[in-house]
Amino acid sequence: SRVARPSRLLCVVREQFSPKRNLTKEARVAVLGAAGGIGQPLSLLLKQMPIVSHLNLYDIAHVMGVASDLSHIESRAKVQGFLGPDNLRPCLDGADIVLIPAGVPRKPGMTRDDLFNTNAAIVRDLTAAVAESCPKAMLGIITNPVNSTAPIASEVLKKHGVYDPRRAFGVTTLDVVRSNTFIAEAKGLDVSKTNVPVIGGHSGITIIPLISQCTPPVSFPPEERVKLSMRIQNAGTEVVDAKAGAGSATLSMAFAAAEFCKSLIEALNGQEGKVQCAYVRSEETEAKYFATPVLLGKEGIEKNLGMGKLLDVEVNLLKAAMPELIANIQKGEQFVGDSK
Ligand code: NAI
Repeated sequence: SRVARPSRLLCVVREQFSPKRNLTKEARVAVLGAAGGIGQPLSLLLKQMPIVSHLNLYDIAHVMGVASDLSHIESRAKVQGFLGPDNLRPCLDGADIVLIPAGVPRKPGMTRDDLFNTNAAIVRDLTAAVAESCPKAMLGIITNPVNSTAPIASEVLKKHGVYDPRRAFGVTTLDVVRSNTFIAEAKGLDVSKTNVPVIGGHSGITIIPLISQCTPPVSFPPEERVKLSMRIQNAGTEVVDAKAGAGSATLSMAFAAAEFCKSLIEALNGQEGKVQCAYVRSEETEAKYFATPVLLGKEGIEKNLGMGKLLDVEVNLLKAAMPELIANIQKGEQFVGDSK
């Protein structure tokens, strides 16, 4: 007797609605600085995501152990370790997304800008390898000072003739994560449904939480609003001080970067409506790079959603931020200009 074969249409419909559909798509993620305080928990979170097919881990130390350890976890992503500069390019070959948390973190009393001398060269050199090995990859810069290192990455990509501003991001998700947490706590809201856009940059007064645009809407007496904004701006320092010399935010940062990466992959896979705040090339203000909510798509940034309407207090925060932000950007650009 003849076995009925499903029609082509039925096959297509089945494929569309199959829960395994996304699993068939490849998403190759490379983490540079994967053995560090951020790199390790970030790699663990990425390893747990069914949408990640390949996880390539690079560092100049200790990364083979991290990769071996993670590779025993019973999840989809195939994990490979890459140790030292000779293995950087093989790590990057074919990457769809590259996340860079390589570099030194703050100690108590340090600003993010104090890290510039060490971290600028690290980001420059790693981005040059990205430009050569996977110029189409989405690039997320986590290394501080992000206000300067994201422009450094962009300048390096430009030098190599492969810069696409839709694909280069300074990762500021942690500022949003902190804002959501603190505001939900203050108002007794469900934090999973709380969303506060954060614009500007990623250091001290350049971090500008737009509490007036919180979903759901919230209101605070002026003094409490100022206090909350200041806590969000100084939240990184709160962690640096609490760790008392043992580093800066690593676990919350890993969570934030993993969320950011998940949205990127989902958008690359064709899911619509994925919005994240990120520090990107921007026409919003006189600063060339500026964080705002951006709509993500298959080619990276589909649309910059801008900063919306600000309250007077938020306009004042913006004014206070601009000189520092512009100086940080110029410092990064000049560093690449001065590099051979
Ligand atoms: P860490 O010192 O624990 O780890 C850094 C890792 O980078 C180490 O494993 C080190 O071997 C590696 N590394 C150094 N030079 C490298 C190179 N040339 N190539 C590849 N790997 C290299 O530091 P942690 O805590 O993981 O922080 C990393 C960076 O992230 C710091 O610059 C920190 O300031 C920044 N950060 C950014 C945040 C953000 O919101 N964007 C939040 C918190 C930290």
